[in-house]
Amino acid sequence: MIKVGVLGAGSMGSGIAQVAATAGHEVYLFDTKKEALQKASQKLQKILNRLVEKGRLDDPTAKAIFGRIYFVENMQIYKECGIVIEAIIEDIGIKKSVFKQLEDIVPKNCILASNTSSLSIAAIASACQEASRVIGIHFFNPAPLMKLVEIIPAIQTSEAVKKESVALIEKWGKLTVLAKDTPGFIVNRVARPFYGEALRILDEGLADVATIDWAMTEIGGFRMGPFTLMDYIGNDINYKVTETVFKAFYYDPRYKPSFTQKRLSEAGYLGRKSGRGYYNYQEDANKPEPTKDKELGHKIVDRIVVMLINEAADALYLNVASRDDIDMAMEKGVNYPKGLLKWADEKGIKQCVSKMDNLHQEYLEDRYRCSSLLRRMARDGEKFYG
Ligand SMILES: NC(=O)c1ccc[n+]([C@@H]2O[C@H](COP(=O)([O-])OP(=O)(O)OC[C@H]3O[C@@H](n4cnc5c(N)ncnc54)[C@H](O)[C@@H]3O)[C@@H](O)[C@H]2O)c1
Repeated sequence: MIKVGVLGAGSMGSGIAQVAATAGHEVYLFDTKKEALQKASQKLQKILNRLVEKGRLDDPTAKAIFGRIYFVENMQIYKECGIVIEAIIEDIGIKKSVFKQLEDIVPKNCILASNTSSLSIAAIASACQEASRVIGIHFFNPAPLMKLVEIIPAIQTSEAVKKESVALIEKWGKLTVLAKDTPGFIVNRVARPFYGEALRILDEGLADVATIDWAMTEIGGFRMGPFTLMDYIGNDINYKVTETVFKAFYYDPRYKPSFTQKRLSEAGYLGRKSGRGYYNYQEDANKPEPTKDKELGHKIVDRIVVMLINEAADALYLNVASRDDIDMAMEKGVNYPKGLLKWADEKGIKQCVSKMDNLHQEYLEDRYRCSSLLRRMARDGEKFYG
């Protein structure tokens, strides 16, 4: 069994280390900060103990998993690894320099993977002489619990490295989807309107935060409302992803960030982690009541869902991923109640087009342009499935 290197012992790195060790690999978890390694070690020990308490693991298995994770302060140990997965700070300059260093250490056939959420895999791979061994392997947070992993071959990545990566991650019990090396890959691109359109509805004053969240959960069937979810992710992080995707798409208005979220982030209203975001999380705080107006609720859900469908259709149109992978990514990566393309069929493709066109006519903004694929399918009476 190959040895696995994990670079960066933060939230993602420690989760990925746990997944690989659980699958039976010896894992070398490296971080430049000693405290990060100590924290990761304590956190992993706690998680494994909890799994034993809950009866999900027996004690010897938990001990064996923990025993397979080595917390290392020197990257030289990577000379024994068959794959190294990088999960350090989201900074292209730093990632490129780390990949360059890694290449001097690892064996010739070692796969070099990045867990980046938003950077170009081609740019990271360009730091390596043997760029064909570099690939994106994007886990979701928390890595041990989230089933989905996006696999992103860069234009330089070899077919063999792509196949080996998919096989390995599936052996770890994950569901893989293949995504083109484009901003946000599948999930972080297709999910943008879930936040962006909710914020737009709020900014227009059509409904308040509690009402939008109520509509999306009670009527839409989503596990969490957009504002609850943004507070959970952190407004700083969610804003940054939106801004990165917006810039990476050459300022396409479809991905335009909201000033409301920017101001929350600037004010330090980051969400749960800071005790305040769209909601106040202090113990004595009053929970805002939604206006449970069904007609308004359906309007909100319809508008956000049709924008999500449009985004999913466009991702398919531009070959970011296959139909099945796009639907699975949204169901398993962000727990949507159903795949968006399946949802489009249920709603009716013509209906989706006419809803997009209505929004476009009302606002005359390019943000609401209908995907060419949806329009073509409506004209030809086609469906995504069957
Ligand atoms: N947090 C998420 O929800 C999430 C989800 C998917 C992907 N990602 C991606 O995973 C990566 C890591 O994110 P995170 O949330 O775990 O970050 P984090 O801040 O929790 O951890 C990053 C760790 O990397 C270490 N580090 C920084 N520079 C280093 C270097 N040169 N060498 C070794 N270690 C270094 C830091 O000390 C820190 O411990 C990023 O690329 C991020 O975009 C994050």
